[in-house]
Amino acid sequence: MSSPKPDLVNSISDRLTSNPKLLARADPAPPCTLVIFGAGGDLTKRLLMPSLYNMTIAGLFPDEFCVVGIDAVEGSDESFRAKQAETMQSFVTRKGGKSHPDNFNETAWDWLRDRLHYQQGDFGSDETFNKLKERLDQLHSETQYSNCVFYLAVADRFFGLIIDRLATAGLLHEEDGAFRRIIVEKPFGHDLVSAKELNARILKVANESQVFRIDHFLGKETVQNIMALRFSNGIFEPLWNRDHIDHVQITAAETVGVETRGKFYEVTGALRDMVPNHMFQLLTMVAMEPPNSFDADSVRSEKAKVVAAIHKLTVDTALVDAVRGQYTAGKVDNLDVPGYRTEPDIDSNSRTETFVAMKFAIENWRWAGVPFYIRTGKRMAVRDTQISIHFKQPPFALFRDTPVERLTHNVMTIHVQPEEGVDLQFSAKVPGPLVHLGAVHMDFRYSDYFGADNSTGYETLLYDVLIGDSTLFQRADNVEAGWAAVQPLLDAWARHRGDVQTYKAGSMGPVSADELLARDGRLWKKLV
Ligand code: BG6
Repeated sequence: MSSPKPDLVNSISDRLTSNPKLLARADPAPPCTLVIFGAGGDLTKRLLMPSLYNMTIAGLFPDEFCVVGIDAVEGSDESFRAKQAETMQSFVTRKGGKSHPDNFNETAWDWLRDRLHYQQGDFGSDETFNKLKERLDQLHSETQYSNCVFYLAVADRFFGLIIDRLATAGLLHEEDGAFRRIIVEKPFGHDLVSAKELNARILKVANESQVFRIDHFLGKETVQNIMALRFSNGIFEPLWNRDHIDHVQITAAETVGVETRGKFYEVTGALRDMVPNHMFQLLTMVAMEPPNSFDADSVRSEKAKVVAAIHKLTVDTALVDAVRGQYTAGKVDNLDVPGYRTEPDIDSNSRTETFVAMKFAIENWRWAGVPFYIRTGKRMAVRDTQISIHFKQPPFALFRDTPVERLTHNVMTIHVQPEEGVDLQFSAKVPGPLVHLGAVHMDFRYSDYFGADNSTGYETLLYDVLIGDSTLFQRADNVEAGWAAVQPLLDAWARHRGDVQTYKAGSMGPVSADELLARDGRLWKKLV
């Protein structure tokens, strides 16, 4: 392999110094081969390759880094490189508003491109793994290291199969200080039983420290910022409890429909797709106790405690506190879009939910009596993922003799996407002789301080795997606790209990989702 070209090093350092306020520099990761199972798939094209490219620009790889892609379709190193090159530009420049082709760093891409290799192989055949072993031995004999990360960017039915075969081929065996790590994508199982089975199967052949269960929400800067916001500032934490907080709302609204993923989505639905994983990551970041340190196990243990403290639902109570919905035809972003039941690969009588809203109670000292409301759905009016903390109202007494009719809650909103930032809503006196109050906002936007974000969210996570930091990954017990919390609802719905409400594409979900809050005297925060 060649050394990085001098102009690549220059362009990396130009880029780093062009915005001196940001980018805490990290050291390059240790030498490693990244093996991607599912190299021909969408995840590789849309997210993994662009992340590797961004990491190359940020100088996070040593010269010995390389990638071996594996998939069933025929191909060679050259055809794999050419295929990735075709789509690379459109995916790496889509974020941060910098979509001009001039921003594409050819030098960085060439550096990465030369390090891409391909092997055709069936995930179920031993031959694939024996061939892979030979290839890795050959690569490693040239470079004097044998660290490997195996990324399972494949459908979940292949997870156990691939890991078993990796083990049989001796590819998970760590010796002479070399590491062998596995990244497992979501969905990690489809319910509690299957998640437990998968964990048991994996942990039979690998140690927990080798397994990185990825949830890409944890790669989002704003999600990681929740810990910084809470624990590096003295002003928030004293208020972060049931004495001061009335309730918390967590929304992940999407405008996209099921797109080409009908086969997967029809048997998955919004609850499995989003709640025990992404939504619970947001919930635990907001609700966890301060960990003893940022050490992986301290953080993950605190998160596990929050999920374990979620009030245990039964099949009956789950139905009271949850609403499911399915979109019908409507208009999104001024375009007519079809209803869910007429999307490709969807049953015309489908009862799969594309929207779910739920209320959770966390039964611990900090949160007793503070409801957490979550909602997530496809084809909603707006794309917006955010967490809003609604503080308790102050006593009205002082304003009794003024024209002010009611006081509003202070609301702190953590914007996860597409905006990234935090804002605080509070009341201020409207200028004039009478006491009138108006809601005003204090706003922090990431882009104002730290420049536009050109990352996919996977960069931090991939880097963490390479340096062996599992703080932002799910431990076996975290995944199981997430499934356990929603299992009663899955059971109720599997018994066809609880209606599937409809909502028009381009709306904010079914009316019953509003009723879920209205019966507690509350409203969802307006997003549009
Ligand atoms: C994925 C889900 O895990 O997350 C998708 O399978 C969903 O259905 C996506 O659209 C949302 O992620 P993001 O980063 O686009 O908000």
